[in-house]
Amino acid sequence: MLFFTPRISTIVLLILPILLGIGRAAAQSLLDPIDSNIQYYGRWNQSDKTMISWWPGAYAKFNFTGTTLAIKLRSTVDLYYKIDDGEYVQLPEASETVQLAKHLEPGLHSALIASKTEKDSIQLQKIIVDSDANIKPPGPAGNIVEFVGDSITAGLTTSRGALTSYAWLVAESLAMEHTQIAYPAVCLVDGCSDAAPGMESQYFKWKGWYDDENWDFTRYTPSAIVIMLGSNDEKVVKQESSRFEKTYSKFLKRIRNEFQKAHIFIVSEPLGALFAPTQAAVRSLTLAGDKKMYFVDSTPWVQYGKAFNDEAHPSDYGHELIAKKLFPYLQAKLAVPTQPLPGPPPNPNLPGIWQTMDIGGEELIGLPGSVSFDSADTFTLWGSGKDIGSRQDAFRFVYQQATTNTVVTVKVESHSAFASCAKAGIMIREHLASSSPNVILGMSPADGVIFQSRPMRNMETKLAGRARASSPCHLKLERKGRDFFGSWSSDGKSWEPVAELRGLNMAKDYYVGLAVTSCDPSVVSVAKFTEVQINGKVSQLETPHLILQPNTL
Ligand SMILES: *[C@@H]1O[C@H](CO)[C@@H](O)[C@H](O)[C@H]1NC(C)=O
Ligand SMILES: *[C@@H]1O[C@H](CO)[C@@H](O)[C@H](O)[C@H]1NC(C)=O
Repeated sequence: MLFFTPRISTIVLLILPILLGIGRAAAQSLLDPIDSNIQYYGRWNQSDKTMISWWPGAYAKFNFTGTTLAIKLRSTVDLYYKIDDGEYVQLPEASETVQLAKHLEPGLHSALIASKTEKDSIQLQKIIVDSDANIKPPGPAGNIVEFVGDSITAGLTTSRGALTSYAWLVAESLAMEHTQIAYPAVCLVDGCSDAAPGMESQYFKWKGWYDDENWDFTRYTPSAIVIMLGSNDEKVVKQESSRFEKTYSKFLKRIRNEFQKAHIFIVSEPLGALFAPTQAAVRSLTLAGDKKMYFVDSTPWVQYGKAFNDEAHPSDYGHELIAKKLFPYLQAKLAVPTQPLPGPPPNPNLPGIWQTMDIGGEELIGLPGSVSFDSADTFTLWGSGKDIGSRQDAFRFVYQQATTNTVVTVKVESHSAFASCAKAGIMIREHLASSSPNVILGMSPADGVIFQSRPMRNMETKLAGRARASSPCHLKLERKGRDFFGSWSSDGKSWEPVAELRGLNMAKDYYVGLAVTSCDPSVVSVAKFTEVQINGKVSQLETPHLILQPNTL
């Protein structure tokens, strides 16, 4: 309700026509916005002779002749517009008649008018051009990519709202038309704050928020759909994982039902909110035979720090990063013929399918880490970082993707560290954001062998067990479904259990590897691992099909 109240500024209303000289110049034609030469993207409704947009980032595109352009609005909105190849210009609280261009070279020009946020429902009544001028098509109608999400997809807290969101940016890079069915505070599941409807209902309606009128899905057909949801379900309602998963699969099935040919990308929330149930929902549909649905792990794309404006919202820079990382996925599937999704780039410094990155924002990491391998089963890792523990981790990770059950064995040959809380060991991790659920079996100068876990995202890390030992020392970490077992050995033959953790709800496709943190961002510590084996094999695992990420930071 609150969100669609038109903002009326009487002053602007009275002064603007005088300032702009409207009414003075007689040489104008007032054209109807219901014109097949105008392309409307987003969910636009026609009411009498007015075109009305709902949801953020809706836009209209057309070409026009002559030297001037103005529009007449029935609403007060934050608009952006662009003439020819110029920059986007903001018109805050635009209302009534607004001039968009004058003194142009006579001839053909292009115009684009876009709404900034979900509050900016454009109500376009007239397009005003020179008296002898007219509206022309901007070009052939383009393929559409539809983005579905919450405040992140709507571009909340970025400089230009919808126009600086990753959605807008990636679509522009692909030279595709786009829609943003997104809304701050929206959950997937109905009943978020104030019992608001979730995307499971609202996606199928004309407008965001409380609206009962069903959207007419014959209006346009996107070639691709990108969905990013989960932060509000996790934060606001602390949605139960199984309910979220069920709702997500139902939601995806309904969308598939509307758009049988669309490539549907389900992108994890960038900080990993409800990662496991999101992945599981996609997995269930993929296993049921849907070949055009893809789970995309975005957690390595943006880390806390300058990529975020606050705890949940990426900055302009963060949105640019997300757009760049998402680009190759869309490009691969929209290519003719379609291409396989991009995998991680080959890493010349690492054997097999190993990847490496620093996990945690710059301020937590401190110094960059690195890794070298001397033979296929020997790695030396240098890692900085605040710690692996509490609610967030900062460390160097060398890892592979894994699916189903895994056994990792290593020998920690040496571990040199200044801080007694420094850690080096085997880690199993749901995703690559700093607060991911994880299990680590490692060595620490203070405690010898430690086995600890963060059972859920953002939760406190708990110590499960310890054993008195120092390097060189053999470690073995095993995942069997939801159970994790840690053991150690002085000779690699007879194993002593350290502890076991049962019933952890970790994603089915996950990461496994070696982790080193110096537990002090101002220094780097180093550990040498030999006899590294995963499932009894040296340096190679079968590539799982579901987790995919093009390149890590
Ligand atoms: C769309 O316009 C029609 C005609 O004016 C109106 O009946 C309908 O309620 C409108 N729907 C929305 C969602 O604006
Ligand atoms: C629309 O106008 C732009 C800018 O003048 C021009 O580049 C483009 O070719 C025009 N489109 C068509 C279909 O004429």
